[in-house]
Amino acid sequence: MTLEVIVLAAGKGTRMRSALPKVLHCLAGRPLLDHVLRTAALLQPARIHVVCGYGAQAVREQLGESGNINWVEQVEQLGTGHAVSQALPHISPGATILVLYGDVPLVRENTLNTLVTALGPGGLALLTAELSDPTGYGRIVRDERDKVIAVVEERDASEAERAILEINTGLMAGPAEQFSAWLSEVDNVNRQGEYYLTDVVGCAARSGVTVSSVSCADPAEINGINSRGELAQAERLFQLRQADSLMSAGLTLYDPARFDLRGQLSFAKDCEIDVNVVFEGTVTLGSNVRVGPNCQIIDSELGDGVEVRASSVIEGAKIAANCTIGPFARLRPGTTLATGARVGNFVETKNAALGKDSKASHLAYVGDAQVGQRVNIGAGVITCNYDGANKHQTHIGDDAFIGSNTALVAPVTVGNGATIGAGSAISRDIPPGQLVLTRADQKTRDDWQRPQKKKD
Ligand code: UD1
Ligand code: CA
Repeated sequence: MTLEVIVLAAGKGTRMRSALPKVLHCLAGRPLLDHVLRTAALLQPARIHVVCGYGAQAVREQLGESGNINWVEQVEQLGTGHAVSQALPHISPGATILVLYGDVPLVRENTLNTLVTALGPGGLALLTAELSDPTGYGRIVRDERDKVIAVVEERDASEAERAILEINTGLMAGPAEQFSAWLSEVDNVNRQGEYYLTDVVGCAARSGVTVSSVSCADPAEINGINSRGELAQAERLFQLRQADSLMSAGLTLYDPARFDLRGQLSFAKDCEIDVNVVFEGTVTLGSNVRVGPNCQIIDSELGDGVEVRASSVIEGAKIAANCTIGPFARLRPGTTLATGARVGNFVETKNAALGKDSKASHLAYVGDAQVGQRVNIGAGVITCNYDGANKHQTHIGDDAFIGSNTALVAPVTVGNGATIGAGSAISRDIPPGQLVLTRADQKTRDDWQRPQKKKD
């Protein structure tokens, strides 16, 4: 059987009240449509056809590189049936088609496989669900022998039909050729004046075709996203799913309800993540990594035994084993820390390498810098890397001691074992092993009297 997938994604998503097409709104950092496309790809279909319309160009630009995709434009959004008709000419006649929705992102591969497998020869298969509150969905209508005979949209439904709790998820599978025949019979005489895809169910049943239904065990999978409220609910569901699988794989989360992963997280044994931590992009944790509360970690690698204390932000950093970061540290892209380095509170680093056991414990900016081993960077040290036009490098040798409040005016090199006295502004290279200080000598004036308040 050749499988081809059609993803409907042409709608504007009026209820999002957004300039962005609905399918480009993000769930866990990726567009809704991207979730559907990735799940579809797991079924290894011969091709995936995406019907786009509203914001088609933006949608294609965002997802264009996803390979194996045929973009079909539905210029006017005349309904879900019309949308599928636009894709049909691109599908090989003998194929089985699976219709997915760009705004139903949580559906699982397994569920889709069950749906496709349920398909009898020449038949039609619908994914349905039982909901305690079916409001807004099309209802599954069955005859007295329990056979599916139609789907009726809520707005066209009678009171009795509205009472049906079994709903149409919109996802269905069937033979491409039959879809063409059924859709040619579908009209737009209904409350919404649209060509409904759901009307093919009635056509199929009337022509004696078996309509099978697969009930989705977890109705949360088929939640359609129409509003920002529903998007937020889907986000939480997705996050809880991820949290569950990470915990099963051995990650400790202090509170899975306060954990967000927008990307890929891999980890070795016995890592602990405190509350309100957000991981983005690709993050790798060694063993025994501890991340304190309220941290954001983006595209970074943290080695064994690294401790990230509260409220730190780490992006594009490579952190070797046993480093300590934070609280309140900011590691910007291009930061590398060698084993045992420490970056403490209110320290910012960028394009900076700190050698083994070096520390910047408080209130410093280390940018465009190569720092050797066992260096001590005092409080208030600034690498003045920018002259208003260009960035320049600072080199600090092993065992150097940079006194508090030193301004290192780059380009500048500090030799191994040099000491800089506090409050210095360094604009020339410093030889190894020397003490350098640029501050004015301290004076004590014995002729000075503290001013007195005037009496009137
Ligand atoms: C649809 C189903 C309904 C089902 C519900 C499940 C129909 C007529 N109704 O209703 O039975 O319970 O989904 O979520 O199919 N789209 C296009 N082109 C169009 C119209 C829609 O591509 O001309 C796309 C939308 O972008 C969206 C999907 O099709 O991804 C569903 O459209 P929507 O208008 O949301 O359908 P519902 O009213 O939710
Ligand atoms: Ca919908």
